[in-house]
Amino acid sequence: MESRQEKTESTPAIVIMAAGKGTRLKSKRPKVLHEIGGKPLLRYVIEAACEVVAAHDIVVVIGHQADRVRAAVEQTGVRFQEQTEQRGTGHAIQCAVESIAGYENFLVLSGDVPLIRPRTIEAVWRFHQQERAAMTLLSADLPDPMNYGRVIRKSPGSAQVAAIVEQKCLKPEQLGLREINMGMYAFKTAPLLANLGQLTTENPHGEFYLTDMAQLLEAAGERVVAFKSSEFEELLGVNTIAELASLDTALRARTARRLMDSGVTIFKPETCMIDADVEVAADTVIEPFVQLLGKTRIGADSRIRSYTVIENCSLGDDVLVRQGCVLSESTVESGARIGPFAHLRPGSEIGQGAHVGNFVETKKARLGKGAKASHLTYLGDAEIGEGTNIGAGTITCNYDGVNKHTTRIGRNAFVGSDSTLVAPISVGDGAYIGAGSCITKDVPADALAVGRGRQMNKEGWAAARRAPRVTKDVHS
Ligand code: UD1
Ligand code: MG
Repeated sequence: MESRQEKTESTPAIVIMAAGKGTRLKSKRPKVLHEIGGKPLLRYVIEAACEVVAAHDIVVVIGHQADRVRAAVEQTGVRFQEQTEQRGTGHAIQCAVESIAGYENFLVLSGDVPLIRPRTIEAVWRFHQQERAAMTLLSADLPDPMNYGRVIRKSPGSAQVAAIVEQKCLKPEQLGLREINMGMYAFKTAPLLANLGQLTTENPHGEFYLTDMAQLLEAAGERVVAFKSSEFEELLGVNTIAELASLDTALRARTARRLMDSGVTIFKPETCMIDADVEVAADTVIEPFVQLLGKTRIGADSRIRSYTVIENCSLGDDVLVRQGCVLSESTVESGARIGPFAHLRPGSEIGQGAHVGNFVETKKARLGKGAKASHLTYLGDAEIGEGTNIGAGTITCNYDGVNKHTTRIGRNAFVGSDSTLVAPISVGDGAYIGAGSCITKDVPADALAVGRGRQMNKEGWAAARRAPRVTKDVHS
């Protein structure tokens, strides 16, 4: 992953705590791998950190299902530190200290606070340096501070902090405090290390609380300050599925806004599901109830009609995807027309100006420029040349029960309706296939192939069948 800054003397390390189980989510999946906007929570935190320091300056503390978490974010190039037993946020940092030896300062982020912006991380870092603090924490005034740690200032209005008190430890007179600890910190490494061993588990959870460092450092004569942010929405953590859903909504609104600001029209954006990494060029129109997922890219002047789902696809300019289509891992070149109700499965490559119409399914199928498959067709493991017309109901029989085989059809060919092409098979350029054929042998270029039972007409047969019958006299 690219990062913005080269390491300098003062570059801090960033520790991302991601070892917790996320008990309150009641899920088998580790909390930091739950997704919003189509990506795991932890991925967002790492990406934000990578905007501030280089990937090798980042240490992710993993523990619960460590292998799974590591595998999900390994490609970012960050370092990992295992916390085999999760004994609290203070313990997570105790585990990480050896990985950050040599850094004069380090920042701490939570893997479950995904909307954090690089500029907020930088603001905390700058404030920490200006204040020459041993510990800087990020705080905010929340209308509903329930379940967060509360910040106790040394005196009202002071930049200095005396302590952070967790919800369950609040004294009755502290219950009204609204300034909360957002779980992001900057530490000077030396004083932190000198006092880290003093953390205890004497609290309602029996855990080592990193938040207790505020009081410990203060008591040791060190400077502890809080940087108050007014944009608390980006700092909200995920502790329940309901919180996950609300952050997902917030993130998708942010993504839709980014696209609209760059000239994309999105009607009823609140009904669309657009993943964080999706790119769309200006003057493309997205209709209501569309899903654009994964790394989907769409060019300019295209239109995606309602109820279409597109995942990890690349679409060119002036593409029309009509209602109710499902496109995955495929490419669609400029000017192509898809749907309604078409299914492009992985490996489909739809050429410039090609048509894939109603109830057509493609898989690993390449359609050349201007090729058409307008109705009720299956094209699997197929190469269709430029300008070729595939009639309604055509099926490439690509599977013999054991292996998959390819169907190759040349340019400007014509496949009559209701034909089956038993692969492996080739049809030459300009060839014709009569409607209703079952094609089992290669067809040469410019030939006509007909593979069907011959029609027989019996003159007068129907009329004879309808003629009144002579009924037998039962009394004779
Ligand atoms: C923490 C803070 C609280 C703050 C809140 C902000 C403490 C004691 N409390 O509470 O003051 O208001 O964040 O969101 O720190 N983790 C580990 N190893 C562990 C335990 C946790 O890596 O042993 C990780 C978790 O995976 C998570 C992060 O640390 O990403 C925070 O842990 P969590 O349990 O969510 O703390 P909160 O209860 O939210
Ligand atoms: Mg939390």
